[in-house]
Amino acid sequence: MDILNRIEQALSAIINLHDVPGAPPRLAAAVRHAVFPGGARIRPQLCLAVAMACGDDDPALADATACALELLHCASLVHDDLPCFDDAAVRRGRPSVQAAFGEPLAVLAGDALIVMAFQALGYAAGRSPQRLAPLLATVASATGMPAGIVAGQAWECEPRVALADYQRAKTGALFAAATAAGAQAAGAEAQAWRPLGERLGEAYQVADDIRDVLSEPDVLGKPVGQDAALGRPSAAHQLGLDGAIRHFDGLVAGAIAAVPECPGAPLLRALVRAESERLVPRAWCEDVARRVAA
Ligand code: IPE
Ligand code: IPE
Ligand code: MG
Ligand code: MG
Repeated sequence: MDILNRIEQALSAIINLHDVPGAPPRLAAAVRHAVFPGGARIRPQLCLAVAMACGDDDPALADATACALELLHCASLVHDDLPCFDDAAVRRGRPSVQAAFGEPLAVLAGDALIVMAFQALGYAAGRSPQRLAPLLATVASATGMPAGIVAGQAWECEPRVALADYQRAKTGALFAAATAAGAQAAGAEAQAWRPLGERLGEAYQVADDIRDVLSEPDVLGKPVGQDAALGRPSAAHQLGLDGAIRHFDGLVAGAIAAVPECPGAPLLRALVRAESERLVPRAWCEDVARRVAA
């Protein structure tokens, strides 16, 4: 089975375990809406690619880890779109959870998804219980305080923030967890795998900032121009578009160089290259370079 099918099946299984008679139907529908249809599923793909590079000897635990990361990511998007954060009506090309179900259910769907992520790890750890504690530590620290998604979003409430700290917490932390936890789910050491996730995560957020300026709502499936409208720290605004593209290229090169030597390394390098072209196509870079030269 290919990686994307594996992810969709594992996500369906975990949502089906919770969407049962007795659950409030609108909450269950809001949770499903947040997870299906998905976006790029890049974090679980990265997690499973690393687990496979490390031998993937407990596939159920690797699937649960990949799902946990995607559920946390989906939760972060549901909360990010709330009126008190970015107040976005569109996500993944359709109404955001808050637009479709209202603010109270969007708060609760995000909460339910965060809890479900940790439940998924708990259910799956039966075969390798000694892996659960390190996995929980990795996934939890990418989510909370001082340096996970929650902290990243909270930097928006501070009068000053360094761009790199904001981006590392808001986006980089979950990518670093994807590589580290992918290794841990397969019984390998996390440390060697962290730099790949850290660099890719930072590159991903820099790309999101560039796309917020250069792309179109129809392509992204979400509003553009939001960083300027909301006064968010953005690589495109701080470095200029050409500077942001150079920074992105440097981070992608760093991510490729950070793939540890192993039998799965070519697959991982190809995944990073394909993502980089999807996020910031060469044609944009050439166009920006032409405009700077003119
Ligand atoms: C969007 O993430 C938010 C960022 C952290 C940049 P993705 O671009 O991975 O969103 P989906 O899951 O593909 O919709
Ligand atoms: C969202 O950041 C990333 C989270 C960790 C929630 P943004 O607000 O920049 O992402 P989009 O553009 O809405 O996807
Ligand atoms: Mg935001
Ligand atoms: Mg947003």
